[in-house]
Amino acid sequence: MNVPLLDLVAQYRTIRDDVFPALQAVVESQQFIMGPGVAQLETRIAELSHARHGIACASGTDALLLPLKALNLKPGDEVITTPFTFFATGGTIHNAGGRPVFVDIDPNTFNLDPDAVEAAVTPRTRAIMPVHLYGQMAEMERLLVIASRRGLKIIEDAAQAIGARRSIDGVWRMAGELGWATGYSFFPSKNLGAWGDGGMMVTSDEATAERLRKLRLHGGAKQYHHDEVGTNSRLDSLQAAVLLAKLPHLAGWSARRREHAAYYTQALRDIDAVRPPVVAPGNEHIFHQFTLRVERRDALQAHLKSRGIGTAIYYPLPLHRQPCFAHLGHAAGSLPRAERAAQEVLSLPIYPELEPAQLDHVAEAIREFYR
Ligand SMILES: Cc1ncc(COP(=O)(O)O)c(C=O)c1O
Repeated sequence: MNVPLLDLVAQYRTIRDDVFPALQAVVESQQFIMGPGVAQLETRIAELSHARHGIACASGTDALLLPLKALNLKPGDEVITTPFTFFATGGTIHNAGGRPVFVDIDPNTFNLDPDAVEAAVTPRTRAIMPVHLYGQMAEMERLLVIASRRGLKIIEDAAQAIGARRSIDGVWRMAGELGWATGYSFFPSKNLGAWGDGGMMVTSDEATAERLRKLRLHGGAKQYHHDEVGTNSRLDSLQAAVLLAKLPHLAGWSARRREHAAYYTQALRDIDAVRPPVVAPGNEHIFHQFTLRVERRDALQAHLKSRGIGTAIYYPLPLHRQPCFAHLGHAAGSLPRAERAAQEVLSLPIYPELEPAQLDHVAEAIREFYR
């Protein structure tokens, strides 16, 4: 039996009758750039995030880069973030003119450790960039206390966490609700994926929303008049049409992912060498990834491959150890929890359309390996 890590064709089959008429409507209108669907999607994603403004852009990377640019970083200004993430998190800090300051993670959730953040704040710190890794939110309430005490901005990297939420003092808070600005990715493999690249920023700050709208359109609110130098980072109307057609399915898809996660967690509970994901109290995880910590990880991955099962390692080399960040001076062992996670993690297939027999096959293959 084959169980790919992700099967976008399976999802496509369930939604094509919704998507194609929407695409055809865009084609017939010939409004490919900033058509009405883009504005509608901005409103919907802002609502989902309990935020006041949505600003669509060309990718999740730009959805982080533009808010970072809006900080007007000067050389030497620091942004504290996690090293255990996709490259864009650190890369955008660098490209916005800042210095990424990587600090260690919570070994249970793989998210930024607020104590490590607090210890790393300096007079040059301008912002904190938590990543809601794999689809569960970081400890926003603690990060907010640090940020407000020190006058720092929080930019949420919610590329993997659209629709995730966290109960804080008994109130559900969405990814994108509490930060100064938040970036989402619509990369096709995401829980809400476009049929190409795409991204979205959300913020509840009016002035920031206006600035981000300008930055994505060459720095001008009025055509051919430029207050500052921005860039071209728009979302295509065709991508907005795909995303609007998919959006009503998102909550159901994420619920299916949670069901699959519960199944795996139960099926693997007796294997000492395997540690299923820890969902922090208060978090509702959307399981963009279902990531185990395992012993003999590379051998397990090869074994699963031989049984037709796709897996992935997110991420094999933390950002503080990447050659491009060598100038930051992090020796091996300097952020031991992130480095250990990079050695031990393995992500299993978790997409909503997985069949029970496929889940069984994955769990059985893991049990077989450790028998
Ligand atoms: C944590 C994280 N940040 C940023 C990004 C960048 O998004 P994109 O690939 O849409 O540019 C991604 C997705 O790839 C991601 O997983």
